[in-house]
Amino acid sequence: MQMIYAHRGASGYAPENTLRAFDLAADMHADGVEIDVQRTKDGRLVVFHDETLERVTKGTGLISEYTYDELKKYPLLYAVDGTEEDTIPLFSDVLTLLRKRGLRLNVELKNSRNPYPGMEEEVLQTVREADMVEQTMYSSFNHYSLLHIKALQPGAFCGILYEASLVHPWRYAASLGMDALHPQYAEPMLIERSEVKEAHLLHLEVNPWIVNDTGDIRECISLGCDRIISNYPDRAVSILNQCKPRD
Ligand code: G3P
Ligand code: MG
Repeated sequence: MQMIYAHRGASGYAPENTLRAFDLAADMHADGVEIDVQRTKDGRLVVFHDETLERVTKGTGLISEYTYDELKKYPLLYAVDGTEEDTIPLFSDVLTLLRKRGLRLNVELKNSRNPYPGMEEEVLQTVREADMVEQTMYSSFNHYSLLHIKALQPGAFCGILYEASLVHPWRYAASLGMDALHPQYAEPMLIERSEVKEAHLLHLEVNPWIVNDTGDIRECISLGCDRIISNYPDRAVSILNQCKPRD
């Protein structure tokens, strides 16, 4: 079944990676959300994209140099309505919300620049505690980290993130025991119909990001992509519903 995941929540409409953006994704009937997880100075897992605070808060410096209580003083900036009421959420609080709203989850471990040693164990444990194991899949640009996840929990569903024109990425992913390809969707396209077929033959999903343009969403659905990751889940859900009846 093809599905729509809201990228950093419904981030086309609300501050990215906030409880508000995740609630909105549920209101828009997304199947799931994609989130970015990092770790604070005091060892708390938080949902935040950049390694530094500058782009989306008035703070400066690395997120890993702040305790969670300190981070709460830096609300997320929101250009559309100017409010600053959204704060960086704890991973565990996000899981609670997703479970309540019936959303699936794609956890992206943001550990390419800062490896956050031990993060894999903590992420898996937090997901178990939230009773979200079945609904959760994992991705990362750090493929060593995904191997670590698989070693800890062989049944964990893992997708390799990449933003290059890889040759036969399905062979590479299968050789690592992965479950999905997570290619960047861009012009020129990094995925083609034959590649989706090759991936499917190896029982790998193809889950492109970030697919926002209506033509691109249609194209991904037509290519047979499995989970389409978009900042505009309402748009993608509507197009998917027009393409064929949903299960
Ligand atoms: O997981 C898909 C996508 O989120 C990867 O890139 O930079 O948006 O986290 P980025
Ligand atoms: Mg991400």
